[in-house]
Amino acid sequence: MGGERAPALLRSNAVNDLFLRACRREPVERTPVWFMRQAGRYMPEYRKLREGRTLLEICAAPELAAEVTRQPLRLGVDAAILFADILLPLAPMGASFEFAKGEGPVIHEPIASRGQIDRLRVIDPDESLAHVMAAVRMLKRDLPVPLIGFAGAPFTLASYLVEGGKSANFAKTKKLMFGAPDDWRALMEKLAEVVRRYLRAQIAAGADAVQLFDSWVGDLSPADYVEYVQPHVRGILSDVQKTGVPVIHFGVGTATLLEAMRDAGGTVIGVDFCTPLGEAWRRVGADRAVQGNMDPCALLATREVAVKHAQRVLDAAGGRPGHVFNLGHGILPETPVDHVRAVVEHVREASAR
Ligand code: CP3
Repeated sequence: MGGERAPALLRSNAVNDLFLRACRREPVERTPVWFMRQAGRYMPEYRKLREGRTLLEICAAPELAAEVTRQPLRLGVDAAILFADILLPLAPMGASFEFAKGEGPVIHEPIASRGQIDRLRVIDPDESLAHVMAAVRMLKRDLPVPLIGFAGAPFTLASYLVEGGKSANFAKTKKLMFGAPDDWRALMEKLAEVVRRYLRAQIAAGADAVQLFDSWVGDLSPADYVEYVQPHVRGILSDVQKTGVPVIHFGVGTATLLEAMRDAGGTVIGVDFCTPLGEAWRRVGADRAVQGNMDPCALLATREVAVKHAQRVLDAAGGRPGHVFNLGHGILPETPVDHVRAVVEHVREASAR
């Protein structure tokens, strides 16, 4: 598992460390900004590189993954997020999948029995996901901003494994969770151990911060979150936070879950776009940083609308140390690049102190 490491700030060669300082709630000259899904189809250079290649082929080739990771830096963002996908660990665990055109992820044999859970392998990410670690090491040679690694959280990963793809109501996942709690626990324990190792491995390879994406956990009530999910997330985060690198804990639709997610852990709590940022921060508490939370759809209309929404987020944060500007979920493929750039420029200028 590797020993404890020096805090990222001490070992980071990043020139611009605004993002890491904000994660630690240190005073910063201006609010750092990056975007979930900042690399991807809305960028012409991504679409060009993607021509004739699948997403998984890009992820499997460290030099291509590193190149895509760098693409959004031209917009002036203060951090880069590794180009990969939360589903990557599933294939070496034994659950093969593909991204079908227009459908999103398709798991070839969705989990429907205890036998399938027991057959999932608890992988060593340095071996099974060596290409991901190679991309991290390659980027860390000369990236001018901090590098964010990431993983999907156990509930979100389990939902893909059980549903076989995206889902409207998570019926199969919840049937397993409520109806076969021992099987659910076995699945969550395996996923949690893989996620813990995977985040640790990315940090050991050089990631300056990591984000845990529990994207779909907002579909649970607080009581069910606490019973079926929180212990597993807490296990991951309490271990990963021992490394000293900032850990961002994020989900969507989490208005009722913020306190429980905070209790599960995270240096920074990611806030979705439906919860007012000021209210979210009061509930999360002043001892945590927050990340968010502009509506990604506000980037679609006009530059002026985008900038107005960005300013609202800055107003809600009130210039207090510990705010990382982001969206409340990922950039949509139809987003105009110019609008993203306008928001970056606005945040840089309007937050200067
Ligand atoms: O720029 C970045 O943020 C880094 C790259 C990144 C990707 N996926 C690349 C990707 C990250 C952080 C993710 C996380 C991810 N993947 C999540 C959690 C974040 C979230 O949005 O809640 C989830 C749920 C997934 C699973 C996933 N991957 C889905 C549902 C899809 C299909 C939906 C779609 O947009 O088509 C993917 C495919 C995927 N992952 C793309 C990208 C850039 C689509 C682009 C392509 O096909 O080339």
